[in-house]
Amino acid sequence: MSGKDIVRVPTFVEGFDRLLCGGIPVGSNVLVTGVPGSMKSTFCYYILSKNAAHGKRSVFITLEQKRDKILLQAESMGMNKPENLVVGDIASFREQMGNGVEEDWLTFITLFLEKKKEEKWSDLSLVCIDSLNALYSLQRHEPTRNDLFAFFSELQKLGSTNLLVSEMPLTRDRYGQYGVEDFIVDGIFHLDINMIGNAVERTIQIVKMRATPHTLERYPFVFEDGMFHVLTLEGG
Ligand SMILES: Nc1ncnc2c1ncn2[C@@H]1O[C@H](COP(=O)(O)OP(=O)(O)OP(=O)(O)O)[C@@H](O)[C@H]1O
Ligand SMILES: [Mg+2]
Repeated sequence: MSGKDIVRVPTFVEGFDRLLCGGIPVGSNVLVTGVPGSMKSTFCYYILSKNAAHGKRSVFITLEQKRDKILLQAESMGMNKPENLVVGDIASFREQMGNGVEEDWLTFITLFLEKKKEEKWSDLSLVCIDSLNALYSLQRHEPTRNDLFAFFSELQKLGSTNLLVSEMPLTRDRYGQYGVEDFIVDGIFHLDINMIGNAVERTIQIVKMRATPHTLERYPFVFEDGMFHVLTLEGG
């Protein structure tokens, strides 16, 4: 299958969409994984804000940092918040949902997104959850394998394209915290940092993307003047 007939969401990362046959298949759950500082949050915010600027409704859920900090950081890197992008943090969710949320954040997050779709954003296109690890640690009880299957399946039912940030340990021996995520998701982007002498080289790899022929190569990846670029041999 060439994957040509599938509707795709562009990442707007220069050089990268070509590697993805145009973008991420609509409705995919995609793990965005990497060690600390590999620009996972910035990369996801970039994809959502670019799509939002093109009229796509997007929700960025930050469970690691406060909303204001994320917005300030994004602005300092040349990315403003378009109207179609909603950014919510733990405090804003607590405020909306009251105490019940403390019991089960996995269910709450999907309920929140379903409500958003029902009430005014039936065309919700992109969601980012930053990060899955923070979400898991908010749960009163450690999620079971069944909880994870149910959670990813509820996310998929939304029909949106979902970017799920995952913190990779420095040992780089798995993509998701429990390993099971690696199998459930439709796609995995691995962002990495390598030290070459005193210089930092960033790379991006498409480890997996269903319905998309792609290479497993690691490509140099740079962020400059508010834009991400993937450097490919074809001159991206
Ligand atoms: N203008 C810039 N150009 C290039 N790199 C930058 C710029 N500003 C910040 N950075 C890099 O981005 C990194 C932070 O990116 P980000 O917060 O998106 O990473 P992350 O993978 O989400 O990190 P964490 O695992 O801590 O959540 C910083 O460590 C810094 O090296
Ligand atoms: Mg981050």
